[in-house]
Amino acid sequence: MHFLAALIVLSTQLIIRTQCELGPCPISWRLPCPLPPWPPTYNMQLSTQQYFYSSEGFYNNQTLAFAALHGVVGIDWINHFGLPNHREETLAQQAALIKAVNPKTRVFVYRNAELALNIYDTGAKVMYDPTKTDWFVLYPNGTIYNDSRMIDHYRQDQFCWDHRNSAVQDYFVNSYAGSAFNQSIVDGIFYDDDGGIWQERHNYPNYTEAYRQAVDAAQQVSLNRAWELGLKYKKHAWQAWLTPSIPNIKDTPARCAEKMRTAMTMKNVPVTFPGMYSGSCSAAWELCKDLPQQLAAFLIARGDYWLFFTPNTWWKEGFETDYGVPLEDAHEPTPNVFVRKWSNATAKLDCNTFVSAITLHSSAKPVDQ
Ligand SMILES: *[C@@H]1O[C@H](CO)[C@@H](O)[C@H](O)[C@H]1NC(C)=O
Ligand SMILES: *[C@@H]1O[C@H](CO)[C@@H](O)[C@H](O)[C@H]1NC(C)=O
Ligand SMILES: *[C@@H]1O[C@H](CO)[C@@H](O)[C@H](O)[C@H]1NC(C)=O
Ligand SMILES: *[C@@H]1O[C@H](CO)[C@@H](O)[C@H](O)[C@H]1NC(C)=O
Ligand SMILES: *[C@@H]1O[C@H](CO)[C@@H](O)[C@H](O)[C@H]1NC(C)=O
Ligand SMILES: *[C@@H]1O[C@H](CO)[C@@H](O)[C@H](O)[C@H]1NC(C)=O
Repeated sequence: MHFLAALIVLSTQLIIRTQCELGPCPISWRLPCPLPPWPPTYNMQLSTQQYFYSSEGFYNNQTLAFAALHGVVGIDWINHFGLPNHREETLAQQAALIKAVNPKTRVFVYRNAELALNIYDTGAKVMYDPTKTDWFVLYPNGTIYNDSRMIDHYRQDQFCWDHRNSAVQDYFVNSYAGSAFNQSIVDGIFYDDDGGIWQERHNYPNYTEAYRQAVDAAQQVSLNRAWELGLKYKKHAWQAWLTPSIPNIKDTPARCAEKMRTAMTMKNVPVTFPGMYSGSCSAAWELCKDLPQQLAAFLIARGDYWLFFTPNTWWKEGFETDYGVPLEDAHEPTPNVFVRKWSNATAKLDCNTFVSAITLHSSAKPVDQ
């Protein structure tokens, strides 16, 4: 329910792609997702992304101010964990509090793709209904599979949706996800555990491979249905952004260059670079040693809907500078050296030395050195 490895995210995308009922995609590894239902932007600040976790009540003013600096943020289920229910409402209220500070910040709220959770009223309403035991994955002895745990002063029950049941699919799509779609303040959903129910379940009995695959495949169908319904409400899915890995100081020149070339081929699809689970630094920005190189890499490779997952504090100089718009595609003038000219800056990353430069045209003042 918390952290997926980058690898898992990638394999998930492949699964979703093959199960998708939306139109075919121009690039084979692309998620079958339409572009976000809002205009693209090259404004750097609006191209930042961050995800927010634990808080007993709503986030304090400091967290709120940090969140509201970003273009896109996600709010986790553990926001307002002091309350054992009503997560549909509290997440939307938290979204409203962020947008009150900055109406331009787009806010995604948490829903879990595999778990029925009693902290959501839409979950609790069906989890204890004796006529709905066939809505959930069961233990071999026929009782409901239940990863229960204590949060604060209450019990959080975690059942696993049995998405093979069409009534579950309808409810998951129309009520559980739907409760986010019909909130005007919410921009989309962060679908956690979208890769299937067996990734994190620590006490699962030995279900057969065929059973696991059937439940996981059905979950992908539910997710695609939810995705399509969301789009009708102009809501997006966090999972729409692909997460290629970004160069770092430990890369050999060849590996760094390979990552850059891969990223550059993804210009026309939505990407987070660095992505939430693939190369972003979760520390204060001053401690993120690769940050200047990664911002240069982002400006070199980025396309219309790209996002930069930020460190844990705000790098004002890097994220609020007006770089203008790209004047050309990225190119590699000499081996392993990547350059792109923008209207207000030129970004360069030399993978041979892992030295970068973002040179502003007006003042010629470098952003990152
Ligand atoms: C947080 O901000 C609100 C609105 O500006 C203000 O009313 C409140 O006093 C602040 N809370 C703290 C603890 O500073
Ligand atoms: C069913 O199996 C689960 C998992 O082994 C166990 O925790 C539970 O107590 C069992 N329930 C009954 C009624 O036997
Ligand atoms: C879930 O697990 C908790 C803790 O073991 C237990 O108290 C509760 O009765 C279980 N609920 C169901 C429906 O299995
Ligand atoms: C939003 O959706 C939920 C779940 O389907 C429903 O209970 C609620 O009444 C809806 N609210 C509005 C304002 O449509
Ligand atoms: C599940 O399978 C593993 C590996 O085969 C085995 O070690 C374990 O005892 C099995 N657990 C149960 C509950 O059957
Ligand atoms: C370049 O920067 C200047 C000054 O910061 C700004 O006024 C201008 O709009 C920028 N140009 C573009 C194309 O964004």
